[in-house]
Amino acid sequence: MKNRLCEMFGIEVPIFAFSHCRDVVVEVSKAGGLGVLGMARMSPERVHEELKWIDEHIDGKPYGIDILNPASFEALGDRKFDPERLFPQAQRDFVKNMLDNAGIPPLPAADAEQIMKAMVNEFTFTPEESARMIDIALEHPIKLIVNALGSPSRELVERAHARGIKVAAMAGAPKHALRHKEVGCDFVIAVGTEAGGHTGTTTSMVLWPRVVDAVAPMPVLGAGGVGRGRQMAAALALGCEGVWCGSVWLKTVESEVTPEIKQKMFEAQSDDAVLTRSVTGKPCRTLRSTFTDAWEKPGAPDTLPAPLQALLWWGQGRTRVERVRAKEFLTYPVGQIVGDMTGETSVRNVVHEMLLELIESKERLDELLN
Ligand SMILES: Cc1cc2nc3c(=O)[nH]c(=O)nc-3n(C[C@H](O)[C@H](O)[C@H](O)COP(=O)(O)O)c2cc1C
Repeated sequence: MKNRLCEMFGIEVPIFAFSHCRDVVVEVSKAGGLGVLGMARMSPERVHEELKWIDEHIDGKPYGIDILNPASFEALGDRKFDPERLFPQAQRDFVKNMLDNAGIPPLPAADAEQIMKAMVNEFTFTPEESARMIDIALEHPIKLIVNALGSPSRELVERAHARGIKVAAMAGAPKHALRHKEVGCDFVIAVGTEAGGHTGTTTSMVLWPRVVDAVAPMPVLGAGGVGRGRQMAAALALGCEGVWCGSVWLKTVESEVTPEIKQKMFEAQSDDAVLTRSVTGKPCRTLRSTFTDAWEKPGAPDTLPAPLQALLWWGQGRTRVERVRAKEFLTYPVGQIVGDMTGETSVRNVVHEMLLELIESKERLDELLN
């Protein structure tokens, strides 16, 4: 295929993959698309390690990084490491009682403290923390920086451009996309509500053409609900120049998710991918679980602002739950295409099948229009 985004990165197909898993990033880039590594929750040392591994395995193909740089966040300050100062009593008790009542054993005290420390250390959420990660990433041959949850600074855009690196950002509404254009982004990613992870409330079908028109002639990637060729055809038909996919890679052998969560995804329907603040503090589409349901019930406390709610789930809940593999509590960000995810495959197969179905869609439309 040939368009501006393919030319921008020297790739064969405009399939961009968001993943927290380096193996997925490498496999997508090797299959002709462009893999982008999500660096949220990575310490600077880990960023270097992951990118070094990618450099050694990607055969010189292009790849990018994605940083969480939210417009608003709660500074952790000196409350780090101390659950009693970090979380209000009501929310702390709510999670503790929920797990105690379900018979999920508490972590040994020493382990709990160790885990909390490691986690807070790896939580890169503030502009300063993101800047540190970017400094490290710039020592690697990255070709793209994607900013999640807000516009990148002009300074970051200029720094990246000076090194020939492109910059993009996620948009859930035309006004976000216009802001990204104003600060100098090279393209935007329009994310419909179907998406896994942080997302807005407008569907891809409505959002994509609105963003395309708002920022024209800037290229737009369609994200949210793309896991197969017919969905890619829809994105292209609606004016996008390519697709940005996150959920579909979770079903691959290369993915980072545990066999238990993968199995839960294979059994899920589209409406099991719920939009909830309970796992990060911001609206995030994730697999329904006893934990996500509990926060919706009458009498549940309010969720905490980001990143506290994420720390509450990860530090106080998730580690306890995963240790005993309590299936009903397991959750992971995933989009509505989870209903289409029924069995394991490889990254290469996903790309191959997406392209085959895209071509079939084109032929069907050609026939219809002729
Ligand atoms: C497991 C998972 C984690 C995600 N984490 C991030 C993240 O850290 N940063 C980000 O920009 N987007 C993140 N996203 C959202 C993706 O970038 C993308 O917008 C979304 O997956 C596209 O919709 P889809 O899930 O229907 O493919 C995540 C998505 C998933 C499924």
